[in-house]
Amino acid sequence: MKDDVYEPKPHVSENAYVRSMIEYRKLYRKSIENPVDFWSDIAKQFHWETPIDRQKFWSYNFDTSKGPVYVKWLEGATTNICYNLLDRNIRLGLGDKIAFYWEGNDPEDYSRLTYKKLREEVCKFANVLKSKGVEKGDRVAIYMPMVLEIVVVILACSRIGAVHSIVFAGFSADALADRLVDSQCKVLITADSVYRGEKLLHLKAICDTAMDKAKEQGHEVKHCIVVRHLQRLNAFFESKTQNHNGCNGDAKNHYDETPWNDDRDSWWHDEMEDADPSCYPVWVSAEDPLFMLYTSGSTGKPKGVLHTVGGYLLYAATTFKYVFDYKPDDVYWCTADVGWITGHSYVIYGPLANGATSVMFEGTPFYPNVDRFWAIINKYKVNQFYTAPTAIRALMKYGDEHPQKYDLSSLRVLGSVGEPINPEAWLWYYKLIGNEQCSIADTFWQTETGGHVITPLPGCTPMKPGSATFPFFGVQPELLDENGEKIIGEGEGYLVFNRPWPGIMRTVYGDHKRFEETYFSRFPGYYCTGDGARRDADGYLWITGRIDDKLNVSGHLMSTAEVESCLTEHPSVTEAAVVSRPHPVKGECLYCFVTPNDGIEFTNKLASELSKSVREKIGPFAMPDVIQYAPGLPKTRSGKIMRRILRKIAINDRNVGDTSTLADESIVEILFKNRPENA
Ligand code: PRX
Repeated sequence: MKDDVYEPKPHVSENAYVRSMIEYRKLYRKSIENPVDFWSDIAKQFHWETPIDRQKFWSYNFDTSKGPVYVKWLEGATTNICYNLLDRNIRLGLGDKIAFYWEGNDPEDYSRLTYKKLREEVCKFANVLKSKGVEKGDRVAIYMPMVLEIVVVILACSRIGAVHSIVFAGFSADALADRLVDSQCKVLITADSVYRGEKLLHLKAICDTAMDKAKEQGHEVKHCIVVRHLQRLNAFFESKTQNHNGCNGDAKNHYDETPWNDDRDSWWHDEMEDADPSCYPVWVSAEDPLFMLYTSGSTGKPKGVLHTVGGYLLYAATTFKYVFDYKPDDVYWCTADVGWITGHSYVIYGPLANGATSVMFEGTPFYPNVDRFWAIINKYKVNQFYTAPTAIRALMKYGDEHPQKYDLSSLRVLGSVGEPINPEAWLWYYKLIGNEQCSIADTFWQTETGGHVITPLPGCTPMKPGSATFPFFGVQPELLDENGEKIIGEGEGYLVFNRPWPGIMRTVYGDHKRFEETYFSRFPGYYCTGDGARRDADGYLWITGRIDDKLNVSGHLMSTAEVESCLTEHPSVTEAAVVSRPHPVKGECLYCFVTPNDGIEFTNKLASELSKSVREKIGPFAMPDVIQYAPGLPKTRSGKIMRRILRKIAINDRNVGDTSTLADESIVEILFKNRPENA
């Protein structure tokens, strides 16, 4: 059957940077055949303190048999990314332009920040960091809500050459502690507490537990700087009304409870009060580290994905410009949390590198009502909206009347990220949100890729619902079979890349060997994404999902090993195996099989203790949907767990295929019988 194809609308194409597939192919060919010219043209718009040397423009090795894997772009050039995002734009006359419209969790709480004001705040905080002894190359941990101060911290780090390490503020104290230790962060920046929807999260208290745990593991965080967020909110509402009935009504009581250590902790506003508002940028090499961001590792230990300054700047800036077709007067909104890579590249770096005006949203799509996203698009007249399929699916459920209440006609480009978007959700997004007038950019990429690698461009790519379509400039995808043979034309296989683009990660922090093993050992000479993909007869790429041990729950990537090690840490558990099961809203969910120790009964109490432990060790987003009693697991004679069979049991599909290689075939039937009633 022929796929439905949706052509970009003329009003989107007419003024787009790339207006036709002919233009796209021409630019793409140049980016592959002559990357030096292609990226030099882009690099020209940025400031390089030491100019770029064309002879050393890029070099790499993806083949471990030829020596260590490495990637270098713009070696020898020096720059400062913060200077390029702020000072350069201010020089271009954008000082009074809004960098961010900030929209709080509560609709009455909002503010805005210009480029000039942002630079002033950044310089002040850069001086605060310096006063705490932070120098070039030092790591700064960030565990913050979606407040404007997080932008200030990120850019302050980059201004002085410090390396930021953001930990999503939904991770547990244990997960934060591991990351503080691994990155050996000197300083931690957080906020007292924050509301997400109606839920109040005590971030500082979580940080205290994490810092204690880190200390037990031998690493002491020297300074913790705390943004007074909740108390500001209380004061704001008290000044408006004594009887505010919103979710923040009882919040003031919590401020005094913010746990404190005078030797280590200080308030943001106290530190900023007398800080010098000017700070000369530190010029750093293009290949110096910019940030690290942890992603799930197969062993359960997270990997600190490291990105460097020059290549990342070029790539975040270029993908942002082309994929969202951002024009100077547009208002752009990405709903991702800054704690994930999408927030790094497409809330902070990409938009600011283009002098963009963005919306930054603290809350959730469901608070105070399930129409919040549409209300915000209407309020700020958003032109580009970028969110995740899981949010789209969740909002679809509430019916069409919610988006229909609002004027969404400002929209031109709709983005999707984080997981495959199913055609049903794609069509709802296209019809209900885009009114069949917008282009949809289904952007495939990873923490490791730094920016979009497979994506349509709004003005030119005919769209097929569910396909991420074609590679971005400079990216050369290939599909390989099990044996590493290239699949030419139509077919399905491992999605790999045969050469680096500027934004690809450079290493795993502190563990280059792990970098090589994880990404380059499966197919020598290729970066292996861990995803499968299919190429159709028209050359479109369709991401089919992870083909390793990773799970994608609501766009949050985690490894089965990570969850299994939480479960087996419980003293009553001998063994555990976790598989993913399709979920109508979350995309995938966790289905866990647990074998208790001999003589221990599997009870509801044990199951809820295990759920709690996953929540505490990883975070609430990793909560299992099902924990099933497993008297044994289906294993081969060599002891390997056959997850393929467990996945069938999870969906109650008796077509399990060949079980003859199992050491004990009877276990399959036992596990089917033991499926919990509510599973
Ligand atoms: O499996 C792919 C899925 O998300 C993984 C990367 O997760 P993470 O590093 O957390 O970054 C998420 C934000 C970029 C990928 O390996 N993924 C991401 N985008 C898509 C996707 N799967 C299908 N289609 C996408 N558009």
